[in-house]
Amino acid sequence: MSDSRSGAERPSAQNPLREGLRVERAAEACTIVIFGASGDLTKRKLMPGLYSLYQQNLLGGACAIVGASRTKYSHEDFRQEMKEAVAEHGHGGLGDEAQWNTFAESLFYNPTDGRSEPQSFDALAALLEKIDGERGTGGNRLFYLSTPPSLYTPIARDLARVGLNRRGRDKGAGWTRIIVEKPFGHDLESAKQLNVDLLEHFSENQVYRIDHYLGKETVQNINVLRFANGIFEPLWDRRYIDHVQITASENLGVGSRGGYYEGAGALRDMLKNHLLQVLALVAMEPPSSLDAAGVRDEKSKVLRAVRRIPADQVDDYAARGQYAKGSVNGQPVNGYRDETGVDAESNTETYAALKLYVDNWRWADVPFYLRSGKRMPKRVTEVAIQFRRVPHDLFRGQQLESNTLILRLQPDEGITLRFGAKVPGQAVQIRPVSMEFQYGTSFGKRSPEAYERLLLDAMLGDSTLFARGDFVELSWELVTPVIDYWAAHVADFPNYAAGSWGPKVSDDLVEGDDHWRRP
Ligand code: BG6
Repeated sequence: MSDSRSGAERPSAQNPLREGLRVERAAEACTIVIFGASGDLTKRKLMPGLYSLYQQNLLGGACAIVGASRTKYSHEDFRQEMKEAVAEHGHGGLGDEAQWNTFAESLFYNPTDGRSEPQSFDALAALLEKIDGERGTGGNRLFYLSTPPSLYTPIARDLARVGLNRRGRDKGAGWTRIIVEKPFGHDLESAKQLNVDLLEHFSENQVYRIDHYLGKETVQNINVLRFANGIFEPLWDRRYIDHVQITASENLGVGSRGGYYEGAGALRDMLKNHLLQVLALVAMEPPSSLDAAGVRDEKSKVLRAVRRIPADQVDDYAARGQYAKGSVNGQPVNGYRDETGVDAESNTETYAALKLYVDNWRWADVPFYLRSGKRMPKRVTEVAIQFRRVPHDLFRGQQLESNTLILRLQPDEGITLRFGAKVPGQAVQIRPVSMEFQYGTSFGKRSPEAYERLLLDAMLGDSTLFARGDFVELSWELVTPVIDYWAAHVADFPNYAAGSWGPKVSDDLVEGDDHWRRP
């Protein structure tokens, strides 16, 4: 981030988040403990993200990273494993080998298994104490729970047992924060229980519930688009907007995650968290400030206003699908039921769509359509704001398209405005054209990876881009009638071919003459 602010406006160490505006600065020295350190997320996202922060001098010089999982690595084994992971998944690989070697000196490992070896948590506490003494990490600790969700509560309990949950900032003892990964619970009941369990040992302001969509540059840009520009917000309501479509389509299948996915499905895996977060950002009122409380209060208000889906009308608000075999990018692919770890008669949806109404002054009667599916023709995440048609048709006989503002969250990050223009010539002929903004060409620099951004935010103590407990419970509340209805009714699956845009039932959700976009 270039910094053209005056010296007086520069952030100080005590004031990293000036009036809610996050400014670029390095984390305080701290120790990051990753539970589930031998897992996939650590290798693909967390360690490459931390290394990238280190390369940009954003990871406090003395920071240490401790891997904690059941695998019996030595410190050296762990360093080697992480080296391979970063070489494979890191942006730009390892880069300079000498730089990696220096970084690797800050990596440690503690075999940790609370169930069969409770004393491993005592060993962890001793290691953290030792690191504080040797590296000057000041007792600042960030625990990252990248484990199966069933371990969240036991880990929180074990941390508390050995005194690693310190709630307050004891004088000179540093801060303690804990990051938990989605899904936050399996349903409303378990989400509430998880919140109760975590808050038994940590305070809400220590708990960071990560939703990696919020770390995406383009998702953060929704606030900038709306509130840093004068032209959009006056149009941003029911008077001008006909409906909104939020799409997250993936061309991949479930890959090796069949076991997890069987118990989740598209509604829990994508819509309940990522897409509801995006919906809240698109629909929220301007917050009074951009600090964590300001933004998160407004987002929760949106979910409170979303019309509850009546248990006996689920089919009017929701549609589901499961892919059959088909072909993606010209390659034949299996149906979901043939994937590894998947039941041959599985009733799990790999496609889900919702029609939601935000029943408030701004959005009364404007449908928000949300959909996400695996094995669709391409990977696209976008928000399409569809404006109302002109009130009077002066250009009779012309097929006028309504204007659409498309926020392309990924890939090809950018924004497109579609409007009608006169085709050159003697006749009046109108054709839709686009005005384009592309991150790549406009800024010519790489956007930070979502995990990189969120890890740094957690180290800085900025929870704006993390889900608050009430938002998580509200989102479960919204999807519960659908989950219950779907669980009680066996679907006629599979109902869409891999490589297609989803099941026919989903088309029926969209009202009137409108239809799902084909991005
Ligand atoms: C994860 C889901 O949260 O998000 C995956 O569990 C999904 O199933 C992934 O593939 C999509 O993330 P992204 O960043 O690739 O859109």
